[in-house]
Amino acid sequence: MHGPDRDFWQQRFAQRQMPWDRGAPGPQIEPWIADGTLTPGLRIAVPGCGSGHDVLALAEAGCKVTAIDYAEAALTLTRERLAAAAATADLEQADVLTWQPARPFDALYEQTCWCALHPDHWQAYALQLQRWLRPGGRLLMLAMQCQRPSAAEGRVEGPPYHMDIQMLRALLPATQWSWPAAPYERVAHPIGWTELAIVLTRR
Ligand SMILES: C[S@@+](CC[C@H](N)C(=O)[O-])C[C@H]1O[C@@H](n2cnc3c(N)ncnc32)[C@H](O)[C@@H]1O
Repeated sequence: MHGPDRDFWQQRFAQRQMPWDRGAPGPQIEPWIADGTLTPGLRIAVPGCGSGHDVLALAEAGCKVTAIDYAEAALTLTRERLAAAAATADLEQADVLTWQPARPFDALYEQTCWCALHPDHWQAYALQLQRWLRPGGRLLMLAMQCQRPSAAEGRVEGPPYHMDIQMLRALLPATQWSWPAAPYERVAHPIGWTELAIVLTRR
């Protein structure tokens, strides 16, 4: 299997080379709190939580957050961030491709974990997301849009890997997931690309 491994991410955090890190929570969290998508008491998982800005924002919104990352340095930053704000969340050092929760979640916040995985892992990851959610649970997805010219030659480049909407429809099929109608909100990312904000419901 191709793509970055745990040591790659560990090094990035240890050396503070984190261009994806907004230094703040994802801007879509606020609208999702305002429109009732995110509510106090919601059991939500954050796969690939990184330095934990989103984990803290969700915890402060009253959600019961489980943060998963396999890079120890990421979890250390998340732990410190939570402690500084006297907030709490469950932290799991684990591989998102194999980890299983004790019971399914109400929601998942998928912010640049999927696009950090090489496409060789996407089918397995899509199945994990489905397993982690209870029926009726929601996948709050920020789908990274970063197609490069080399894709026209069939090359796969990343991370981040471009999350093509047609590929997402194939991996999260309408038989298992309820898709809202497009167009989707476009959320700017500081590294110059955009993310599509999509809320899917697990059937
Ligand atoms: C691009 S960063 C995004 C971090 C955070 N979500 C954000 O938006 O700032 C990708 C994160 O996913 C984690 N990650 C990548 N592959 C993983 C895997 N297979 N299992 C667990 N964590 C993984 C990395 O350690 C890193 O923290």
